[in-house]
Amino acid sequence: MHTVLPFEVYPQHIWFVFDYRLPSLETRCENSLFRAKKFHSQKFNTRAEFEFYETNTLGYQTLLHHFYELRHLGLLYDTFKRNHDYLRISLTDNCNLRCFYCMPEEDISCATREQLMSPDEILNIAKQFVALGVNKIRLTGGEPLVRKEAAEIIAKLSALPVTLTMTTNGLRLHEFVPQILEAGMRSLNISLDTLNADTFTLITRRQGFETVLNNIELLLSHGIHVKVNMVVMRGINEQEINDFVRWTVDKPVHVRFIEFMPFSGNKWQGEKVVTSHEILEHIEKEFSFISLGKEPNGTARKYFVPGSLGTFAIISTMSHPFCEDCNRMRLTADGKMKNCLFSNGETDILAAFRRNEDIVPLIVQSVLNKKEKLGGQFGGDFGELNAEELHNRSMIKIGG
Ligand code: GTP
Ligand code: 5AD
Ligand code: SF4
Repeated sequence: MHTVLPFEVYPQHIWFVFDYRLPSLETRCENSLFRAKKFHSQKFNTRAEFEFYETNTLGYQTLLHHFYELRHLGLLYDTFKRNHDYLRISLTDNCNLRCFYCMPEEDISCATREQLMSPDEILNIAKQFVALGVNKIRLTGGEPLVRKEAAEIIAKLSALPVTLTMTTNGLRLHEFVPQILEAGMRSLNISLDTLNADTFTLITRRQGFETVLNNIELLLSHGIHVKVNMVVMRGINEQEINDFVRWTVDKPVHVRFIEFMPFSGNKWQGEKVVTSHEILEHIEKEFSFISLGKEPNGTARKYFVPGSLGTFAIISTMSHPFCEDCNRMRLTADGKMKNCLFSNGETDILAAFRRNEDIVPLIVQSVLNKKEKLGGQFGGDFGELNAEELHNRSMIKIGG
């Protein structure tokens, strides 16, 4: 006997089942005496019908069980079984600094207003990612706080059920403290590659060192957790590694030493990379420390000098990539989705959104296209790597 059971499911389930899980679901369903008959999906009105070969309680219960499982698994699994629940949204490709490792000297043209996602577009696109399981959103740039509507965007996104956070160069933080507190942001990442004012000017080609330091103090005084990103570059700032560690002893700051990564136009060379191994060797000369390991889905391996107020960590993309539990997706300021920091492909989410199309299948497909490691562009011995052969944007246009 064939019985058709109309089965209402959440809109997000349907694409997951349809695009990725259907074969396995169908196989499993064979034993449960039912199979998916057809799927309909209209933007926010999705329905699946299941045809039972034989109606029985066991089959019905198994179906419910599968849906329960899917709901709790998350919906943006890639083909390497990584769940994607963290979205990084770039608010602008403009910046008030000019760090040489981040942007090319030539071609520093910025996206036009029309090309940028508007605050409402950001909110509505983010909502769809949230419906697909995203629970953390990081705002990036360029420098997110130079975006004219930064405060409005922060306020809008703070209404979503996510951990909202931001990576900033810290120069304008003092203007945004009330909005940051109001939005419930409890942890911020700040880029600061040196503790020396002259080196700051050399790297950033701008002034502002004191302001960044003061703003870090300001955040600490409000009880905000501060992570400091320090990109270590041979011949530029590697001699400051231990000054940063000393800083973590005296202040509750969490410094992350980052291996220099190659991006379009950033003059990367293998020999400028100071590896995690070398960084630890430097530190060992002056400090004894304890390893705290890597958080699940995190970028950084953490360490702690006993008795200190902060911690230090290493982000070792080049020498020890951490792609195996990656949970990140990125939206550029002009609304393109990147499934990896190093992906050479992009999906134009904003254009589809503006045409009033369903963006969910685009998001799902982008995740399914994700490569196992480093965008499939390199890996192994980075000494052999020719950065000019990588197909990617500059860092300022990705957002980190
Ligand atoms: P948390 O959310 O605190 O883990 O921050 P984060 O480390 O992901 O973000 P942040 O913006 O502070 O970036 C610190 C460094 O990690 C930068 O150099 C980023 O480019 C790098 N980074 C961030 N996400 C990824 C990633 O998915 N892959 C790789 N390889 N590097 C990343
Ligand atoms: N290599 C490593 N980290 C980089 N960042 C920017 N460019 C690079 C690079 N080439 C870091 C910035 C910022 C974060 C978003 O990415 O310092 O903290
Ligand atoms: Fe994820 Fe790509 Fe970064 Fe690896 S390089 S951790 S896959 S974003």
